[in-house]
Amino acid sequence: MNFKKITDLNLFGKRVLIRSDLNVPIKNGRMISDMRIRESLRTINFALNQGAKVIVMSHLGNPIEGSFNKKYSLYPISKILSQYIDFPIRFIKNYLNGIQIIDNSKLILLENVRFNIGEFKNDIFLSKKYANLCDIYVMDAFATAHRIHASTYGVVNFVKKTCIGKLFLYEIKNLKNIFSGLIRPITVILGGKKISTKLNILDNLIKKVDYVILCGEISNVFISVKTCNFKLSSFYNKKMILKIKKILSFKKVIIPVDVYVQKKNSQSYTLNNIFKKPINQIGSKDQIVDLGPETIKKIIRIIKITRTILWNGPIGAYENPCFRKGTKMIAESILNNKNICSIVGGGGTISSIELLNLKQKFSYISTGGNACLEFFINENFPVIKLLK
Ligand code: 3PG
Repeated sequence: MNFKKITDLNLFGKRVLIRSDLNVPIKNGRMISDMRIRESLRTINFALNQGAKVIVMSHLGNPIEGSFNKKYSLYPISKILSQYIDFPIRFIKNYLNGIQIIDNSKLILLENVRFNIGEFKNDIFLSKKYANLCDIYVMDAFATAHRIHASTYGVVNFVKKTCIGKLFLYEIKNLKNIFSGLIRPITVILGGKKISTKLNILDNLIKKVDYVILCGEISNVFISVKTCNFKLSSFYNKKMILKIKKILSFKKVIIPVDVYVQKKNSQSYTLNNIFKKPINQIGSKDQIVDLGPETIKKIIRIIKITRTILWNGPIGAYENPCFRKGTKMIAESILNNKNICSIVGGGGTISSIELLNLKQKFSYISTGGNACLEFFINENFPVIKLLK
């Protein structure tokens, strides 16, 4: 591996800035999986034990740049982090003009980098401000490594010493190994949100795999286009529709044929309030919450003949136990296929299989969702190339 690693550097007494991915899934103000925090600890603890002054930065969700929004603050995460760590944690909200390192604050967590103007655009001035905070920059946010942002990419250009962290190394080492020996047929299950990111990935994925199964929120957009029911999702524009039509023309792309819906803004989310519908009967007041039985059967048939599966993105509204049937049946059919190599990635996906107590049974769990797929498409994506 052609990278400078955190273990190659002398960290003692140095200000070490670690870009972690602490973007944990949160529902109704409650964190539903702490995996990304626990996995980030391997690098944070290493640096602390080497006597570094550790500064951690991360994003949480997708707030609007330039305006503080409590919903996306990392302050609650600093409280959770402190439960896993023996060192006192200092949380700093305003840090762009420098921070004072005081001796009893060995570990500092910075407020959400996505509140900073210029983060998404990879702004040079912001990148320089991050660089000024440290002597050594450590890229450990594998799950955000597909983003060319100031905290993941730009900063690397302005720090004298940069390296990769333990989690980053663990992910690329394992994924590289797995991806170099893949057996066909290869199936990708793509669910969850982040439609525009996933649409970009899809073009390349289709060229590399045998089946692409779309579910979760991303499939709503495809169902809308297929059934000309444009009230189902608010995500598209004309260009997107053309792209979706093109993707739908590939036989290997599978979208749901039936789903469970409930009425939008329904007061109680229970099994009594959900109805099975073929996709052409979904009304404008319906909200899709899970896959229907015909769709599940169709997906299971594909899983049975699959030898490698990559799963990124939740399948239904899994946070509610009533809407986990699709997730459960698909997860179980993957695990029942003894000839399959299964790679599951991303915060929401991990939390959906954790809630079913099935996480340990998959071949590999990656903290990265889209990053894992981007790495599958091209293992030299920009952040990786720059760090090399
Ligand atoms: C993720 O959840 O996939 C990562 O934290 C990256 O988040 P992003 O897609 O909002 O950049």
